[in-house]
Amino acid sequence: MTESKKLKALFLLDPAITYLNFGSFGACPKPIFEDYQQWQLLLETEPAQFIAVNSVGYLKRSREALAEYVNCDADDLVYVNNPTYAINIIAKSLKLEAGDEILSTNLEYGALDRTWTYYCKKNNARYIQQKIELPVVSKEVLIEQFWKGYSEKTKAIFISQITSATALRLPVKEICAEAKRRGLLTIVDGAHVPGHVPLNLAELEADIYTGACHKWMMTPKGCSFLYVKKEFQGMFDPLLISWGYDSATPSDSQFLDYHQMQGTRDISAFLTVPKAIEFMKEHHWEQVAEDCRELVQNNYIRFCDLLGTVPLCPMDADFLGQMCSTRIKTREPERLQRHLFEHYRIEVPVTRIGMDFFIRFSVNGFNCQEDLDKLFVALGEILAKGVFLEV
Ligand SMILES: Cc1ncc(COP(=O)(O)O)c(C=O)c1O
Repeated sequence: MTESKKLKALFLLDPAITYLNFGSFGACPKPIFEDYQQWQLLLETEPAQFIAVNSVGYLKRSREALAEYVNCDADDLVYVNNPTYAINIIAKSLKLEAGDEILSTNLEYGALDRTWTYYCKKNNARYIQQKIELPVVSKEVLIEQFWKGYSEKTKAIFISQITSATALRLPVKEICAEAKRRGLLTIVDGAHVPGHVPLNLAELEADIYTGACHKWMMTPKGCSFLYVKKEFQGMFDPLLISWGYDSATPSDSQFLDYHQMQGTRDISAFLTVPKAIEFMKEHHWEQVAEDCRELVQNNYIRFCDLLGTVPLCPMDADFLGQMCSTRIKTREPERLQRHLFEHYRIEVPVTRIGMDFFIRFSVNGFNCQEDLDKLFVALGEILAKGVFLEV
């Protein structure tokens, strides 16, 4: 059996589907899912002990494992369900005044564009979606384009480390370092980062960072984190007021009290992080990721040629991870995606930025060249029929 087939057998994924959409919601391998179910069973065996007595300790152990993995202090991060939740905590509490600006890009995730637009509007502040030209030609040019959006009203920057629709790695280290020189608060959306490319929070000058564990770290859904540097933790109110606010039994960390207590809920997904890290070590995930990046780079140009376009970035690991996006011309993006699934059993997303559409394929350890060939043949057939797609 090939390595990718062996790995596929470890996942719960339907073997009949060619799964090229890992980037959207990840997928959970069986050993991690079993760990999740064991936590859930333990919870239901003695709910009161689990929730009221032991949950804080369980969470601490899991935060410690994650903190070691992303290199930060375990008390500077808290589990939340998803990055949208994390950024809502931040945007709601940020003391925005009329005229203040949040500098971002036009490549951000739609839900978070909406979050910033909402809170900026409420405070008569402005969310600046600075245009990054595609294709990106170099880090330097991208950085220069980004800072064209800066003004003396800029209060904070918000930027993805790996973008959603366009699947680009952005030079956030350099951008955050420059932002700190300019005295700005740095907020990074790393939804796609943990488990995908190395993350070292101590080196990255992000004051605030959110990452999803349920994507590339492969935990069950609803497991993400918010990291806030100690000096900024006092700025943020809980999004949900519960026992941790004005706590009768405060811990050493108001940050944890505020954001960790959210009423009765199932925290089992959060507790699978140590198992997910163990799984990645056991299966040499750094090498798996490296092989996947190679597969992406070997196939990107071929898809661009087929679709009559060019890659969105230079072909190297500075910009590409385990996903890539190819611009497509379609008037029926939803039907195209549905057709690929229903007719070819290929799960691959058609993403969009405004009126620009892209097809984004993700590669993980269970994928192989054959999967990409299937997509290639399917797109070729669709193009030949002249339905859904044009060149
Ligand atoms: C760049 C980016 N940010 C944030 C998110 C988080 O989305 P959610 O909060 O819905 O899990 C995603 C999800 O795909 C994303 O691609």
